[in-house]
Amino acid sequence: MRRRAIIATAALLALGASAALGASQSTDQQRFAQVEHGRYLAQLGDCSACHTWRPETGAFAGGRPIETPFGILVAPNITPDRDTGIGAWTDAEFDAAVRHGRRRDGAHLYPAMPYPAFAKMTREDVSAIRAYLNTIPSVHHDVNANQLPFPFRVRGTMAFWNALYFDDSEYKNDPNHTPEWNRGAFLVEGPGHCGACHTPKSFLGGDKASKALQGYAIQGWFAPNITNDAQRGLGAWSAEDIATYLRNGHNAIAAATGPMADEVAHSSSHMTDADLKAIAAYLKSLPGQDDKTTPVAASDRAMVAGAAIYGDVCSACHASRGEGVANLFPALAKSASVRSSDATTVVRVILNGARSVATAAEPTSPGMPSFGWQLNDDEVAAVATYIRNSWGNAAPSVTAGDVRNQRAALAARVD
Ligand code: HEC
Ligand code: HEC
Ligand code: HEC
Repeated sequence: MRRRAIIATAALLALGASAALGASQSTDQQRFAQVEHGRYLAQLGDCSACHTWRPETGAFAGGRPIETPFGILVAPNITPDRDTGIGAWTDAEFDAAVRHGRRRDGAHLYPAMPYPAFAKMTREDVSAIRAYLNTIPSVHHDVNANQLPFPFRVRGTMAFWNALYFDDSEYKNDPNHTPEWNRGAFLVEGPGHCGACHTPKSFLGGDKASKALQGYAIQGWFAPNITNDAQRGLGAWSAEDIATYLRNGHNAIAAATGPMADEVAHSSSHMTDADLKAIAAYLKSLPGQDDKTTPVAASDRAMVAGAAIYGDVCSACHASRGEGVANLFPALAKSASVRSSDATTVVRVILNGARSVATAAEPTSPGMPSFGWQLNDDEVAAVATYIRNSWGNAAPSVTAGDVRNQRAALAARVD
């Protein structure tokens, strides 16, 4: 009798133990899945591009200066270090920062931290990012974020800004569109924060919602129109062209450089193919502004001079009709950057040259030599005007004065 009881108890204990083991296995799996989800969202949100400065200062340990139209901000340390990072923060405090733009002390963050876009994520998404950040090495690195001049350094002014521009609601599915389109819209407007660079801003730095993704000048570059606009945007790109560009940094038309090279390297090259297709489908559905410009006439003096320079020094790589060489030398025809209303990127690349991004799929990162020393302001203006108004492109002329101003602006830049 006693023996049976012992056996029964042992069996019960064993059953209980295996049930407990089963339960802990499933919470481990859940935790693993949550960390993985958070790691992927952190890539979508490009957290490391801003929050990592140099390899020697440590991943996510902050210190990178972020240029805004109002001055320099420095991205803080978001490693689990309790003193200088976010190790001592509660999940609610972390969520308040990422989705609502609040520091731990309750003061406002500046939108250089893309919380207006991150607000489209759910609380669970943000908890997953936190769970992932808990797994990265702690780094003790004290960062003083705010180097803005007065009056912008007064964080209270952001309450006013938020009232004007900040919508803190999560992404809502639009039932008139497919799940793929909705996923693309969530990625672009939410964690991918494409509009932070590509959407025109008011003089206070708020998004002009009616012109979403129609192009904006940032950090000495112009982030072009990426709607389906035929004249200025990606109208000439297929959805596949867009997905390939975001994954590889290159496609048959363009090469990613400058701030977009960072975006591709840290974020879009790690996205799943399904997510890249969703982004492409969403961008192709946006109509753009459809402003019609007639190209500058081929007989115009600048066009004639530009054609000669192009034939001499550019066509060896970009080919005689601006068609380039797929994945090696970008096509200047069909390029949203070349056709942009604002020629900042075009002039910058001609003056300083550029190196495109290297990705796992395309490790070579072809570079463009600089011509700033070889061509004078008139010549750069002429060749820029020529490529912006040939082979189906039509965009405002570039003047020698524009080139002179940009030389001065580039000389004053640190990067
Ligand atoms: C475009 C650059 C940029 C990106 C991308 C970015 N951040 Fe930030 N982040 C900043 C800057 C700049 C600040 C400081 C802003 C300020 O001082 O007002 C900041 C502040 C923060 C803070 C508050 C820290 C503190 O000590 O007050 C947290 C938390 C944070 N970011 C997390 C994230 C996460 C998580 C991601 C990715 C999902 C991310 N950030 C992506 C630039 C960025
Ligand atoms: C940090 C700023 C920044 C962010 C964030 C950003 N972009 Fe860009 N993007 C740029 C700049 C600047 C260029 C122009 C540089 C170039 O031509 O390589 C560009 C170029 C592009 C081009 C190529 C256009 C052409 O004709 O060459 C595409 C497509 C694009 N971006 C899509 C996106 C998408 C989609 C997202 C969001 C997932 C995004 N970008 C996020 C700054 C950014
Ligand atoms: C040795 C080959 C070579 C020559 C010569 C050359 N380029 Fe390039 N060009 C490139 C490469 C490679 C890139 C891509 C670099 C990048 O994206 O960082 C590029 C990029 C560009 C871009 C940016 C395109 C975009 O979509 O962002 C423009 C504009 C451009 N070149 C214009 C010119 C002009 C004008 C000339 C002649 C004055 C010229 N190039 C001469 C190789 C060349």
